[in-house]
Amino acid sequence: MKNSNVGLIGLGTMGSMLALNIAEKGFHISVFNRTTEITRKFSKTAGKLSENITPCETLHELVTTIKNPRAIILMVPAGSAVDEQIGTLRPLLNPEDIIIDAGNADYNQTNRRASEALENGTGFLGIGVSGGETGARYGPSIMSGGSKQSWDRVSHLFEAIAAKYDGQPCAKWMGEEGSGHFVKTVHNGIEYADMQMIAEIYGIMRDGMQIDARECSEVFARWNNGSLKSYLIEITAKVLSTKDIETGKPIIDLIIDRAGQKGTGRWTAIEAQHLGAPIPIIEAAVAARNLSADLETRRNGELVFGPAPKILPKGSLDLDDLEAALIAGKILCYAQGFALLSSANSTFSWTLPLPEIAKVWREGCIIRSSMLNDMASALAQNPIENLIFSPYFANILKSKSNTLRQVVTSSLASGLPIPALSSALTYFDMMRTSRSTANMIQAQRDYFGAHSFERFDQQGAHHGPWSD
Ligand code: 6PG
Repeated sequence: MKNSNVGLIGLGTMGSMLALNIAEKGFHISVFNRTTEITRKFSKTAGKLSENITPCETLHELVTTIKNPRAIILMVPAGSAVDEQIGTLRPLLNPEDIIIDAGNADYNQTNRRASEALENGTGFLGIGVSGGETGARYGPSIMSGGSKQSWDRVSHLFEAIAAKYDGQPCAKWMGEEGSGHFVKTVHNGIEYADMQMIAEIYGIMRDGMQIDARECSEVFARWNNGSLKSYLIEITAKVLSTKDIETGKPIIDLIIDRAGQKGTGRWTAIEAQHLGAPIPIIEAAVAARNLSADLETRRNGELVFGPAPKILPKGSLDLDDLEAALIAGKILCYAQGFALLSSANSTFSWTLPLPEIAKVWREGCIIRSSMLNDMASALAQNPIENLIFSPYFANILKSKSNTLRQVVTSSLASGLPIPALSSALTYFDMMRTSRSTANMIQAQRDYFGAHSFERFDQQGAHHGPWSD
C-alpha cells in the first residue's frame, strides 16, 4: 500500500532516531536496513510510533510503499556506501523522486552526486544534520543543499522535525549542490575547535591549578549561566560530575586521552587550504586530535624529555581569567568558521546565507550557543566582514584579549599544551598587525625563485639586487 510520506534507508543510531522523530511528527515513514534483523528490531522498539512506520525487508518494498513523488532519506556511512545505495535505488525510482543524503558527507562527493542526479534526471539533496543522537530524535539543526525545487518539496517535513529557536525551525536551504554538506563540514570544524579549547581550559584547571573533576564541573556549570552558555559547556559540566559506577571515581579520570575522529574536522581543514582561507584554530584542533591519538609516542616523549612542570605559579591565573580566555577563543574560532563560509561564497559563487546559518546553529546542533544569536545579528548587519570587526564582538575582544594573552603565556611558561588557545591569540595578533613579517617571505621567494615582490615606495613588480 502506498501510504508513506517518506522513506529512510539505514537504521543505525542516527537513522533510527531520525525515523522516530519523523514518525512522531505525524508523517508515515517506510524504513529499510540492509540487515533485515535490524529493521525488525527497530519496528518492535518503536512502541506507539510503529503505527506510522512501515518496516520493509526489500528496497522494492520500500519504494512501493511510499507515495509518489517519493522522497527517500539515506542515513548510511559516508563514502562508497552512499554511492552503492544510490546505485541500487535509482533504477527503482521515477525521475521526479528525490534521494536525500542526510549523513555527514564530503561536499565534493555531494557535488558529484548532485551532477550525476541531474544527468539521470532525478532529484538529489545533500543535507547536513547536526545534534547527535538526541538531536536526531528530538530536533536537529538541518543544513540543506541541492536543487531549490527539491528542497521546497520536502522542507515542510524537515522543518517539522528540526529544532526550534523562538518557534523558528532550525532548517534552511543553503544553496545548490554540496553547499549544505559544506556548511555542515564547517560546523564540525568549529565543533572540533570549540571542544579542543574547552579541553585545554580543563587541562589548565586539572594540571595547572590542581582542581579536581567535581570542582571543575561546578566551574563549567557556573560558566554555563554566562556568556559561554552552550551545549558543549553544559555537557562538559555533566561529564566532569559523572562517576564511574564500578569504582565510584570520576569517569573522566578513567578515560584514555586518545581522541577519535570520523574526519569531518579534517575535511574542514582541507577545504580551507583549498580556498586559501585561514582557520588556524580549527587546524590546531584537528592536529591536536591527531597528536592525542599517538599515545605511545607521547609516553615515550615523556620518558625521553621528562614531563613539563605544568603546575602554574600560585596566583598567576584565576578561574575568571580562564572564562575570559575561553570567551575570546570562542569568538575567534567561530569568526574563522564564518570567514571560511564567506570565502566559499566568493570562490564558488555561492550565496550561503551567513546570518541564516548562525540562526540555524542556535538550536539543535552540537555548537549551539547563546553567542550565535548575537553572531546572527552581527552578520545580518555585515555578512562579508570578519565577525571580529563587528562592533559588538570587537568590544568583547578588546576587553578579553589581554586575559587570553595572560592565560596563554602563563600556560606556555608552565609547559601546558594549549595549541588551540595559543593559535587563537596569534590569529588575533596577526589580524591587528598592519606590518607583518611576510616582506621576508617575499624577499626569500624572489631570491631563490625570482618570484618578484611589491614595494611600498614604487608601483609594479620588482626584483632584488641579491648579492650572488
Ligand atoms: C553533529 C556531530 C556529528 C558527529 C560527527 C563528528 O553535528 O551531530 O558533528 O556529526 O559528532 O560524527 O564526529 P568525529 O568527532 O568522530 O569526527
